[in-house]
Amino acid sequence: MEESALSFWMYLGVMSVFFGGTVKRILASERSSAPTLLVYSALFLLMERLCSFCLPTCVGLGVFCAACWLIMGTVAAAKPLPVEGKAVFITGLWGLVNNAGVCVNFGDAELSLMSNYRGCMEVNFFGTLEVTKTFLPLVRQSQGRLVTISSPSGEQPFPCLAAYGASKAALNLFVNTLRHELKLWDVKISIILPSSYKTGQSRNVEYWEEQYKHLIENLPLSLMEEYGEEYLLETKKLFFQFAETATEDLSPVTNSIAEALLSRQPKVRYYAGQGVGLMYFIHCYLPVSISDRFLQKLFMKKSVLPRALQKRNNNNKKK
Ligand SMILES: NC(=O)c1ccc[n+]([C@@H]2O[C@H](COP(=O)([O-])OP(=O)(O)OC[C@H]3O[C@@H](n4cnc5c(N)ncnc54)[C@H](OP(=O)(O)O)[C@@H]3O)[C@@H](O)[C@H]2O)c1
Repeated sequence: MEESALSFWMYLGVMSVFFGGTVKRILASERSSAPTLLVYSALFLLMERLCSFCLPTCVGLGVFCAACWLIMGTVAAAKPLPVEGKAVFITGLWGLVNNAGVCVNFGDAELSLMSNYRGCMEVNFFGTLEVTKTFLPLVRQSQGRLVTISSPSGEQPFPCLAAYGASKAALNLFVNTLRHELKLWDVKISIILPSSYKTGQSRNVEYWEEQYKHLIENLPLSLMEEYGEEYLLETKKLFFQFAETATEDLSPVTNSIAEALLSRQPKVRYYAGQGVGLMYFIHCYLPVSISDRFLQKLFMKKSVLPRALQKRNNNNKKK
């Protein structure tokens, strides 16, 4: 390719990136954006002409990038909506935040009781569904916001969280369907996907010990024999270790909730906390073999094999 053609495409590439960013900011910050867009288009073109004619390609591109960056920076970041009048129950309801949720067990899907699955579904899915249906007419009237706290386990198959994850997956689907349907009503809908935090339930050791006791008492004998109690005890120990590593500072979640309620253009999904965005990327964009390995490494740190597998391995060794 000729040098002039290459330089043309490079300028065009840089301009597209920065102009795209500028348009996004303008649309998010102002209502009558057509004149502003025209002014900014003229500015970008002028800078491109000046740099490409007056400077050698490398220097010109550098100067052009810096100029574009500065031009983009002059568009004020989107201001949040004013809070006044948004939370007055008597006149209406601006935003509904669905936060209630429970995780009733941590363990293999096969070892989770039916009551675990039903318990999660009841609170995380049906509870949220009922609250949403109750308040939606008010949110529609105000063309307001619906914010739902879900979990990355509803998007990705986290080992040992099948009951909780399945209920959050159902919740995600419901909320995402609503998002399409309520566009017509100008209601904006966001889902928050927090990483791991130390909160009421996750740090409640007594609750988890109680859940473990309930499991041991209700697990069918055949499963208990095949897995063995040492396997279950290790799962419980790993859960406590995992819960210890959770974060105390909830601000990524609370900030996301505030942004979803007050930003002019709230995001559809907020990955609140370290690593959740990366996990989503690995799950969605890398081959299954890699994403499976990643989740196994993160959650399956078990060293104890189920009792029946230990026996099978021993028999194989003897043969
Ligand atoms: N902590 C994490 O690491 C994490 C990660 C991802 C997602 N989440 C999600 O974040 C949300 C908040 O959980 P959290 O971690 O903050 O736990 P939490 O401190 O235990 O809070 C759970 C909330 O749910 C309410 N709730 C539980 N069962 C309910 C029921 N049957 N009816 C009505 N309300 C009920 C609780 O109300 P009471 O206080 O009145 O009991 C409490 O306000 C949940 O949806 C959870 O799934 C948490």
